[in-house]
Amino acid sequence: MQCLSDLDRSSINMKTAFIFACVVVLTVVGVCQAGDLRKNFYSTSCPAAEAIVKNITERFVASDPDIPADLLRMHYHDCFVRGCDGSVLINSTPSNKAEKDAVPNLSLGGFDVIDEIKTELENKCAGKVSCADTLALAARDAVSFQQTYTILLQFQKPMWEVLTGRRDGKVSIASEALANLPSPFFNFSSLLKNFESKGLTVHDLVVLSGAHTIGDGHCNLFSNRLYNFTGKGDQDPSLDSTYAALLKTKCQSLSDTTTTVEMDPGSSTNFDASYFVNLKHKKGLFQSDAALLTDRTSNKIVEELQTSTDFFKEFAQSMKRMGAIGVLTGQSGEIRKKCGVINS
Ligand code: HEM
Ligand SMILES: *[C@@H]1O[C@H](CO)[C@@H](O)[C@H](O)[C@H]1NC(C)=O
Ligand SMILES: *[C@@H]1O[C@H](CO)[C@@H](O)[C@H](O)[C@H]1NC(C)=O
Ligand SMILES: *[C@@H]1O[C@H](CO)[C@@H](O)[C@H](O)[C@H]1NC(C)=O
Ligand SMILES: *[C@@H]1O[C@H](CO)[C@@H](O)[C@H](O)[C@H]1NC(C)=O
Repeated sequence: MQCLSDLDRSSINMKTAFIFACVVVLTVVGVCQAGDLRKNFYSTSCPAAEAIVKNITERFVASDPDIPADLLRMHYHDCFVRGCDGSVLINSTPSNKAEKDAVPNLSLGGFDVIDEIKTELENKCAGKVSCADTLALAARDAVSFQQTYTILLQFQKPMWEVLTGRRDGKVSIASEALANLPSPFFNFSSLLKNFESKGLTVHDLVVLSGAHTIGDGHCNLFSNRLYNFTGKGDQDPSLDSTYAALLKTKCQSLSDTTTTVEMDPGSSTNFDASYFVNLKHKKGLFQSDAALLTDRTSNKIVEELQTSTDFFKEFAQSMKRMGAIGVLTGQSGEIRKKCGVINS
């Protein structure tokens, strides 16, 4: 979809036609916002933008293997709350508790990476590159760099394409994060309802859940599955019992809120399809992971994503759709000077 890049070059009549086409597409696909973003949005306004993001991101990832998971999760949180508008980066103020200080913020990290990139972007081309785009690009570059590292330079190219042209929102409210982010205790129908409310499909839900191939989860977000699943001191029968026994050695009580475990045991810094292989063997960490096996369609998609080639292809497409949720473009929003602070 290239609604806007085509629009720019067209006459008023053509505009009308394209807007009509967009409305049709919007109705059918639900993600026409993608049309407002384009490849290399900064090619004239800040030609070095994407290279700057990549350069600094890679430097951080080289010294901290957790950065890709941090940035990928942060980008997802950004997109699911008020669209991909950089609002997850805004700091709380005395009069406003922001998204980043909401309950589901556990383990959000990587703010320092974004701040450093943004400082450099402002040095090179002040007021041009949005925080929302910076985050979208950095998440992609971090995962891609780690990938290149792990599988010995097999993939030299970015793992997915990031269209740009997002602008920054001026609103960030903690309660909206809670209301818009799916909980790890959700069942399948609640997960799907949440994704559909963002214009995403059951396919996107399963594919994007594959992001849990990297990173860690806190014990208290799944230990009910180990110790008290139905309130009778029991274990979740949909969790592999050998894996449950292993998890119990790490999360020793229901009240442990500080310990974290790898979501994809043994390859939690390796972006691959093993999340889906483990999931199929009842080794998904959260109830929300296990829930993907409880629906026929979704279960079938899990089966189709067992190899990395298939997963990467689908992930690239779903990330593009996620990266287009509710974006601000054109004259909307602002280009924030500091990602944590709304311009005054
Ligand atoms: C389907 C609904 C989803 C639920 C219920 C969910 C829930 C969670 C939870 C509870 C954690 C662990 C947080 C912690 O304990 O610190 C987590 C981590 C993570 N999630 Fe999701 N998530 C979902 C979808 C996604 C999507 C769509 C993405 C990205 C495309 C994503 C990327 C990540 C990453 C990378 C981590 C690891 C973070 C880190 O280790 O720093 N998740 N998720
Ligand atoms: C990347 O960063 C290094 C320093 O870390 C610098 O020497 C180099 O010029 C940078 N390259 C680009 C394209 O910004
Ligand atoms: C998460 O929110 C709490 C307040 O609810 C805050 O103290 C903490 O610093 C936040 N964590 C991050 C990483 O922003
Ligand atoms: C899923 O959870 C929702 C919200 O808690 C509940 O209303 C619904 O009945 C549940 N669906 C199934 C199939 O258990
Ligand atoms: C298990 O859940 C039940 C019902 O919610 C509760 O009464 C009980 O105290 C819980 N057990 C533990 C060890 O927390």
